[in-house]
Amino acid sequence: MALFKTITLLCLLVVSVLAIKGEIRKFPDTLSFGVATAAYQIEGAWNASDKGESIWDRFTHTTNSIKDKSNGDFACDSYNQHKRDVEMVKELGVDFYRFSISWSRILPNGFSNKISQDGIAYYDSLIDDLLEANIKPYITLYHWDLPQSLQDLGGWTNPMMVDYFTDFAEVAFEAFGDRVKTWITFNEPWVVCIEGYGGISKAPALGMNGIAEYICAHNILKSHAKAYHLYDDLYRSTQKGRIGWSLNANWDHPATKSPADIEAAERAIQMNLGWFAHPVFSKEGDYPQVMKDRVARNSLAQGYRRSRLPEFTPEEIAYIKGTCDFFGLNHYTSTMIRSLTTTISMEPNFRDDVDTDCFYDPSWPEATSSWLKVVPWGFRNLLNWITKTYNNPEIMVFENGFSDKNNKDDVDRISYYNQYLNALLDAIEDGCNVTAYTAWSLMDNFEWLQGYTERFGLYYVDFNDPRRPRTPKASALYFKSILETRTIERNCNAQLNRNGTG
Ligand SMILES: *[C@@H]1O[C@H](CO)[C@@H](O)[C@H](O)[C@H]1NC(C)=O
Ligand SMILES: *[C@@H]1O[C@H](CO)[C@@H](O)[C@H](O)[C@H]1NC(C)=O
Repeated sequence: MALFKTITLLCLLVVSVLAIKGEIRKFPDTLSFGVATAAYQIEGAWNASDKGESIWDRFTHTTNSIKDKSNGDFACDSYNQHKRDVEMVKELGVDFYRFSISWSRILPNGFSNKISQDGIAYYDSLIDDLLEANIKPYITLYHWDLPQSLQDLGGWTNPMMVDYFTDFAEVAFEAFGDRVKTWITFNEPWVVCIEGYGGISKAPALGMNGIAEYICAHNILKSHAKAYHLYDDLYRSTQKGRIGWSLNANWDHPATKSPADIEAAERAIQMNLGWFAHPVFSKEGDYPQVMKDRVARNSLAQGYRRSRLPEFTPEEIAYIKGTCDFFGLNHYTSTMIRSLTTTISMEPNFRDDVDTDCFYDPSWPEATSSWLKVVPWGFRNLLNWITKTYNNPEIMVFENGFSDKNNKDDVDRISYYNQYLNALLDAIEDGCNVTAYTAWSLMDNFEWLQGYTERFGLYYVDFNDPRRPRTPKASALYFKSILETRTIERNCNAQLNRNGTG
């Protein structure tokens, strides 16, 4: 740790020198900071003790889809090294650590009739170590690793999942709710449904475009609401925690000032973020009107007898409305949106339903992930859009980060965090009520289809070493210095931004 301290001192020195040169901005005391991970991406131990198989175990073992032919069997070995993880979280000086529970580790067959004592013990120990280090545990219940047994019953297209998910949530509230006060039911339901059910770039890779993603979202909205009400009715009064979910969103920016492009950008954000946010956060509830209209129109033109977008009953609309104690947001990047006037294709397709052309401005700096461009002002715009559209909710940012290839001296990641945190401060000054900021990720990990070829970590993980040693990158020290002072220099690294590829 001596090296760590020396580097920290050097880093602080650099920051102090910059303070003389540039403006230093203070974060409000109401903003807390954290780092995040997800079970399948870090834990490994996929078959330890009585753990059941998840859809990501099945997907990586039986398809050829992962870029480097890798899997999460060992990942960062956090199942065995969580004490080192807590040490890192503590070194950074964050207020909270957001991690997810592997459903099939605590409920091996997916159902709550059989609870794994080893699974519970693992998360108990992680939670206790965090609390001892004075770090709040934030739990994500569903970060994509559904038990395979439940997928065999149709996964999120099966309406019975509403009960199965709520049972899983209840086991977690009972086991951990005495110590865990922030619950996130679902991480990025848009990705689960669009990429796993409509598309094939996440497990279970169903690929039933224009159909399955809408059914998936419908059941996830109901599952979330039922788990929320369960917590509200039975656990909140004694456990005194908060519960919500985390939605992913790009900022969709109109490509030109033409009314058609402005309308297209608004439609894109309503049919992506609003698909999940409108039923929960709007005054009237339900899916956005533009989404109901578009999918119904296309469905009828394609010969369906009803809209491919399922309908909620008035009781369900009321039941789902208001089921979040905060607006959880994962944000990384922005897109340019142009209006389209395509003729309706006979094959159902989510993109045709939205009917916009999206592209990246070629001037935006790039990360290693093809979808990730550096557009800090988009973050500010999105936060303002949410504040305005949903009547000033409390916003908790649960993911934000940058990918590179293999780089411990990660100046591009430092530049990204500097710019996005400045944009966050701009949004707070605009009047947005942002109370949490989370860096994705604590350490390099299994990046889904990209395997280990894209790294998001503040800590470097050596995946060639069976011990999976973790080393702080330059960005870890930068993040630590921000947390120590709760200040940031105004866009000091903007000049590093010419070339974002690591
Ligand atoms: C667990 O999986 C690994 C491969 O990831 C395999 O080598 C090992 O034999 C399995 N252990 C058990 C108990 O099945
Ligand atoms: C932000 O949200 C929190 C939690 O709802 C609330 O207590 C606080 O008053 C809000 N702050 C502002 C400035 O609106």
